[in-house]
Amino acid sequence: MNSNNWDVLISSARIQEGIRKLGLELTEIYSGKKIVVIPLLRGGFMFAADLVRNMNIDLQIEFLGAASYGEQTKSSGEVRLTLDTTLPLSGRDVLLVEDIVDTGLTLTYIQKLIKSRNPASLRTVVMLDKKARRQVDVDIYRCVFDIPDRFVFGYGLDNSGGFGRNLPDIVAIKD
Ligand code: IMP
Repeated sequence: MNSNNWDVLISSARIQEGIRKLGLELTEIYSGKKIVVIPLLRGGFMFAADLVRNMNIDLQIEFLGAASYGEQTKSSGEVRLTLDTTLPLSGRDVLLVEDIVDTGLTLTYIQKLIKSRNPASLRTVVMLDKKARRQVDVDIYRCVFDIPDRFVFGYGLDNSGGFGRNLPDIVAIKD
């Protein structure tokens, strides 16, 4: 990968520290409960993998897949479900884990879908929030980092061509 094109925006060490704190908070909130954690694929897989290792409670993992970007770096606004859960969510405490909220369209769509299945509770945590680009209000319990309006990848997020998800840092494309 050509590192001349990007700068490190958030280092792996900062990411892990942020996740450790969030894991402690969620461990307290859900203490004594058996929850369902749903990473939103594909981007949320790495954040979720680190987060659950910092949560000391009983939990199950389910997956939801959503696609909204295609090959471009701008949201099309169109959300497609690419993978659905297998467990019933009715009456369950659900924690949705997403990589980034940008326009908010993807999370709005996915939260509506989960709520239609009558969970006991639903919280959403996101790694990154690009507030400047929000188009719809979306209910987020915690975001680990607010970021400026720059295209980022690494740590689960792809560089719009499907690559770069394996970088341990979050990097931003140079303007
Ligand atoms: P939204 O629907 O516009 O909020 O976009 C959310 C989805 O767009 C995320 O799940 C990401 O897959 C993708 N996305 C938004 N911004 C970026 C970015 O800067 N880099 C990589 N993917 C992004």
